[in-house]
This record gives sequence, C-alpha cells and structure tokens, in this order.
Amino acid sequence: MINTVSLSLDQAPPISIPFRFFLTAPLFAIGAGLELLILGDEMIATRWSPLTLGLTHLLTLGVLGMVMCGALLQMLPVIAGSPVPRVMLVGTLTHLLLILGTLLLTISFLSGSVVVTLAALTCLGICFGLFVIAAGIALWRLVAPGVTIRGMRLTLVALVVTVILGMAAALGYVGIAPIGHLSLVTNIHLGWGLLGWVGLLLVSVSFQLVPMFQITPEYPSWVKRYLPSSVFIGLFAWLLLKLVPVMAWSDAPAQLAVALVVSGYILFSVTTLRLLSQRKRRVPDVTLLFWRLGMYALVLCALLWIGGALFPPPDAAHYFSMLLGIGLIQGVALSVINGMLYKIVPFLCWFHLQNRQMALMSMTVRVPHMKEFVTDRSAKRQFHLHLSGLVFTLAAAVAPLWFLRPAALLFILSNSLLLLNLAAAVQKYRATFKLLTPPAPGPTAGVGGTG
Ligand code: HEM
Repeated sequence: MINTVSLSLDQAPPISIPFRFFLTAPLFAIGAGLELLILGDEMIATRWSPLTLGLTHLLTLGVLGMVMCGALLQMLPVIAGSPVPRVMLVGTLTHLLLILGTLLLTISFLSGSVVVTLAALTCLGICFGLFVIAAGIALWRLVAPGVTIRGMRLTLVALVVTVILGMAAALGYVGIAPIGHLSLVTNIHLGWGLLGWVGLLLVSVSFQLVPMFQITPEYPSWVKRYLPSSVFIGLFAWLLLKLVPVMAWSDAPAQLAVALVVSGYILFSVTTLRLLSQRKRRVPDVTLLFWRLGMYALVLCALLWIGGALFPPPDAAHYFSMLLGIGLIQGVALSVINGMLYKIVPFLCWFHLQNRQMALMSMTVRVPHMKEFVTDRSAKRQFHLHLSGLVFTLAAAVAPLWFLRPAALLFILSNSLLLLNLAAAVQKYRATFKLLTPPAPGPTAGVGGTG
C-alpha cells in the first residue's frame, strides 16, 4: 500500500494541469524519432549539426522539460503543502509557450533565421520566467523546508542558469551577439541542463517517490542532506573555474569540480539500486525495470566520463560525447521519467476519483485500482521497446549505417505505445468520472417543480 501520510493531497491542482504536460511529452518524442528516421544520416555525423541540436532540444525541452514542469506544478502543493499561485493560468501559459518555444527553437537551428530565433527566445524566456517565479514563490515561502524542497530550490536555480546560458548560446549561434568561446558556453549550458536541472530534480524527487512508490526503506539521512548541495557546489565551482578568466589558469581544478558532481551521481545511483533491492513488496513491477535501467545507465555514464577524463580518446572524442549524450538523455532521464509516469498518472487518476467518490458519498461506482489504469502487460511491452531503442541508438552512434533507422523506428514505436498507455489511463479516468457525476436536475426537479 502506498504511504501518502506525508502528502498534502487536498492541495493538489486540477488533474488537467499535470496531464496536459504528460500527454504532450510523448508527442515531442515521436517528432524527434521522425526527424531521426527521415534526416538521420546528417545528424549522427556531428554533434554540432543543426539537425542534432534541434533533435536534442525536442528531447530536452519538449520531453524532459515538459514532464518536469508538469510534475513540479503537481508536486509542489502536494509534497510541500505550498500551492503554486494562479496554477491554472501559470500551467496553461507555461505549457503553450513551451510547445511553441521548443518548435521555434528547433526551426531556428535548422534555418539559422534571426527572426525565428528571437521569437523562440521570447517564448522560452516568458515561459521559464513565469514558471520560475510561480514555482519560486511556492518553494521560498516555506519556513521549514524538507530535503526534497531544498533540492527543488537548487533545481530551479539550475534551470535559470541553463536558460540564461542557452539564450546566450542561441544569440551567438545566429550571430546576433558576439559570444566568445561559444563551445565553452554550450558545454557549461548542457552540463547545468543535464546534471543540474534534470539531475537534481531526479535526485530530490526520488528521495520522496522511491520509498513511497517502490515501498523501499528511506534514503540514508546523510545522503538526503548532503548529496544535492554537493552536486550543486561542484557545478557552481566548475562554472566559476571555467568562465572567470583569472581562475582558468589550469584545467585540473575544473576537472576536480566535475569529479565531485560525478561522484555524487554514482553515490545516488548505487544507493537507489541498493534500496530497490530491499523492496518490501515482492510483486514484480514494470516501473522497477525502468528505474533500474536508469540507474545502471547512470553508473555507466559516470564510468564513461571517468574513462574519458583519465584516458582522453584522441580520435574518438566524437563517439565519446555522442555515447555520453545518448546515455544521459535516453538511458537515464527518459527511462526514469517513463517509469515515474507509469506511477504518477495512475496514482493521480485513482486519487482524484477517490476524492470525488468521497465528496459525493456515492459507493455505487467502483473506482479502478492503480494497476487497472495502465496494465502491466502493455507497460512491459513498452519497456522492451524502450530498452531495444536505447541499445540500437547507442549502436547507431558508432555504426549509423546499420543501426540508425531501426533505432529511430524503435524510439517512435516505444513513445507511441507510451502515449497510448497514458491516453488509455486518462480515458478510463474520464469514463469513471462521468459515472460519478450526478445527473443534471430535470425540468421537474427544479425550484418550481413541486410535482
Ligand atoms: C531556453 C532554453 C534553451 C535554449 C535557448 C538553448 C539553446 C542552445 C543552443 C543555442 C545550443 C547550441 C550552441 C552551439 O551550437 O554552440 C544548445 C546546446 C545544447 N543544449 Fe540547449 N538550450 C535551452 C535549453 C536546454 C535545456 C533545458 C537542456 C537540457 C536539459 C539543454 C541541453 C542542451 C544540450 C545537451 C546541448 C548540446 C547539444 C549537442 O551537443 O548536440 N538545452 N542549447
């Protein structure tokens, strides 16, 4: 049984807010897969091709950012008990501007057009500005924040740094503003995006969700207390050592700062894998497969980075960064997000229906169990597609001629099935909700209907 004691479920926003983000994300993933299928040859040849940059942002903004913004709007009131102000307005605008901004940014990479770039930056700037202010108010008004909330605060700061550096890189990319050392700015931007914004949210949310959904023991308190701040300090030191010229006298301190971040993530993945092996519930669960895959991928990415730092690959730097990017985005982030969606979506459906039933005091309609919203069989099928898609994409980084098209096809299939599974859950929710809606008063039942 899921332990919901520490949650303020009565503060939850309307279900349509998180769901619109969760259902849009697989559409962007399918779009990215189609781009890879149709135009793939050019993309995998270099990290810097406009098509690769477009594909990266369809995934990082359209999929990861989409789910993460939706999840934060949902979780802040529930975990922290601190509602996001004007959540309907903020949720609707963030969602629409993120869709529009991501599409425009992808087009701007392809076209190099100054007008489209400025339009993309305006949409994304307003989108993230609004989101950060609203989520920031909810996070910083808390007087005694717990570990998850402190971690979320760091996540939000990481998002601000990522967006500012991304905007600077975009202005430099199309030549609007002269940005010296563009590749350095880009590297810091992607480091803060993946290891700060995405990684820190994953860590802080796991502290709450892994014990709750996987019925494991709690994370050790020293891990909860020091891990997010150590990763953040490492990232901050790296930023200063790289960007402030007086500090850039040698690369060794910057490498040490990244080593601190990488060790933080190794500690997190090993601890999570250990907790998952101590689950109190022995029933097999598909989300566990996604979690384990994500954590093993994280360890492998960390080892790849260490290998690359100790023995820099002279002729294979391209493969190295490609494998690391695919491992972190598709292997770690998408796996865990996929697994989380299969827990969060059924949980929200079940919880909102349960609330509705209580409010109406109507026990004639049965509220489905969480497992009935997304069946294990269908979720497992999608896990296998996701796993094979990952293996083929990794292989495509090395031998694109052979593996690129099958990888793209598997990725499209996996995300289409994810979309179908989530849509089926929402459909079931709607059907049950309808049964729980009292019939509208007939013409004779009104005030004047004395019969
Ligand atoms: C306002 C939002 C964003 C903008 C305007 C933006 C812009 C850019 C630009 C212009 C580049 C390429 C720079 C160059 O060619 O030198 C880039 C690269 C990159 N960005 Fe972003 N970005 C944004 C958000 C994000 C986020 C949230 C993430 C991750 C979660 C991210 C991950 C990356 C990655 C991984 C690369 C490197 C791609 C590659 O090596 O092929 N970006 N970004």
